[in-house]
Amino acid sequence: EKGGFEHFMLKEIYEQPKTIRDTLSCRMTADGKQVRFDELNWTPEDVRSIGKVLIIACGTAYHAGLLAKYFIEKLARIPVEVDIASEYRYRDPLTDSKTLSIIISQSGETIDTLAALKEAKRRGARSLAVTNVVGSSVSREADQVVYTWAGPEIAVASTKAYTTQLAALLLLAIYMGQLNGVLTTTAVTKLLQDLKKVPDQCEDIFSQVNTVKALAKAFTDHEDAFFIGRSMDYGLAMEGALKLKEISYIHAEAYAGGELKHGTLALIVPGIPVIALATQGDVEEKMISNIKEVKARDAYVIGIAKASDREVGKTVDVVLHVPDSDNFVVPILAVIPLQLLAYYAAVLKGNDVDKPRNLAKSVTVE
Ligand code: F6R
Repeated sequence: EKGGFEHFMLKEIYEQPKTIRDTLSCRMTADGKQVRFDELNWTPEDVRSIGKVLIIACGTAYHAGLLAKYFIEKLARIPVEVDIASEYRYRDPLTDSKTLSIIISQSGETIDTLAALKEAKRRGARSLAVTNVVGSSVSREADQVVYTWAGPEIAVASTKAYTTQLAALLLLAIYMGQLNGVLTTTAVTKLLQDLKKVPDQCEDIFSQVNTVKALAKAFTDHEDAFFIGRSMDYGLAMEGALKLKEISYIHAEAYAGGELKHGTLALIVPGIPVIALATQGDVEEKMISNIKEVKARDAYVIGIAKASDREVGKTVDVVLHVPDSDNFVVPILAVIPLQLLAYYAAVLKGNDVDKPRNLAKSVTVE
């Protein structure tokens, strides 16, 4: 059932070309020029009436929500708030009938997420679930559902569910921007062209697996690691740090590049591994300054950059390249090396990768 792979996690990482393709293909028109969501069937007015989007989730699904904020705000120009389900439910939130709540949950059974959805509904919000399990509690409770077609995810550490969430949420943002007139047809077509390439481009990352495996050793000699990034890469940094923590038990922290000098630089000691995500062209120069700040303290920096990039490679110790793609699309690719780094670090430490200590696949107690 592991299909020849040593662990479910590795199998699920390698399933991503298929699961991303499945999530995308049913949501594009045959000519590939427009997004369609038959399960939503929204009108321009449905989108124009949204005053605010509220995204609620836990863990990895929350990290997908952090990126969705960039997708929706930039592509549809609608304000987005992202909240952790267990925080949202107890903070007497400002949610009303002009709020569209988007609930992200792989299992659709996480108790805090389900309770937060009920709370948003109680306050009058419209609700849309992005979930992977057909007929799950969250899918039944929400007004509308967008399924991620990741198939069963067995490993506790979420991988293919996350990338299909990113794909579905990016499509949703494009759909909203298409309906409310913020995005031109040309812009939509270009985004979709890049999205369609992702499944094949994953193979390009898999071809670098031996390099990634060798780099995983950088983690096992240290107690701590840092993940830094700006803009969408900051959200990815959080996901990369979580993956490493949950299966390798190495302490990892994610930092927004610009925040380092507000305290964290004190912890950058010689040799400490720093994963620097630098895929976002518009903030690259700033990110390179942040890389120089940690290099000046002799950190061991692994950079992640687009294939055509010539600058990041000059400042880091080693660079992993991900295929060129639109800024909004590239996170789907850039997270894969982070998943593989965490996986191989955990394997090197001899940990039970698929069932990390103290964690359950689906958290149905508070
Ligand atoms: C991390 C992980 C968890 C889940 C979280 C939410 O790899 O798997 O952080 O993402 O427990 O689970 P769902 O998405 O099922 O609500």
